[in-house]
Amino acid sequence: MTDDLKGRDYIETSDWTDAEIETALAVSRDLKEKFRKKEPHRHLPDRTIFLLFFDKSTRTRNSFEAGITQLGGHAHFITTETSQISHGESPRDTGVILSRYGHGIAIRHDLVPGEGNAYMREVAEHADKPVINMQCDIDHPCQTLADLLTIRERFGENLKGLKVAVSWAYAPSYAKPLSVPQGLAMLLTRFGMEVVLARPPEFPLMPHTLERARANAKRSGGSFRVADSMEEAFEGAHVVYPKSWGCIDLFREPERSLALAKKYAHWICDEKKMAIARPDSIYMHCLPADRGHEVTDAVIDGPHSVVYDEAENRLHTAKALMALVME
Ligand code: CP
Repeated sequence: MTDDLKGRDYIETSDWTDAEIETALAVSRDLKEKFRKKEPHRHLPDRTIFLLFFDKSTRTRNSFEAGITQLGGHAHFITTETSQISHGESPRDTGVILSRYGHGIAIRHDLVPGEGNAYMREVAEHADKPVINMQCDIDHPCQTLADLLTIRERFGENLKGLKVAVSWAYAPSYAKPLSVPQGLAMLLTRFGMEVVLARPPEFPLMPHTLERARANAKRSGGSFRVADSMEEAFEGAHVVYPKSWGCIDLFREPERSLALAKKYAHWICDEKKMAIARPDSIYMHCLPADRGHEVTDAVIDGPHSVVYDEAENRLHTAKALMALVME
């Protein structure tokens, strides 16, 4: 295990070089193998990480909690409602105090555009322990690292020319954050993939994330473009990743965002749309999925789906990140 990344924050994948991302993937694979073989891998004995949630979670919370236990340490689960953050305690004070009690801080603050990334960067500025982004308004770098690992497991190390369709899909449950499609666009374009983003006109992503995706694609020899329909994006795709997100201007009025989304209830990933992709294509979703709306049961439970492998990889990548940055 290299010490080169000790003390580093992991807030956006763009903060890490290609070589550093490759290190995180290599350590994830190694820890996955050790987990399978039940070989001890207590790289962080007696260390504490604080998991601070401004939003709900199943995979992220449990991959970090299980992960730190398997690494020999312990996690504190903190919510805004049950901490002094609800009374307005500052990110600076929170970062300084938690740094003095433990060895790492991980934060999920993803629901309001313009808030979460700035919050965690302020914590990181004042904390002298590493800060890991468990999902903000801009990026979900733990999810996209696990997604990249999953794509490599299916298609091999060289991903140049691999066609990826990231698409909006309809979901009535809640206005989901923008950070997964943005994070995918910014990360996958670094590896020479041909990424197409499809969305209805009322559901754009943050312009700077798309500009970064275009610049990455130019550098890596891949491509990035925006399409107007799921069908157009799926044409010849190796990877399809249809998921919902909310209207960027309506996160403070989620009911209006959901009402607007209803117009596009036909943006569902079904077997007919999967037939447009390559026969060996994989279906991905970060989960939770709105079954019957974002995707049919036949697709998410069908032969193309890798969603459970993808979710499992959240554990191995979370462990790799903690093991690499915490000391
Ligand atoms: N994909 C993901 O981040 O899942 P949770 O919201 O359950 O953590």
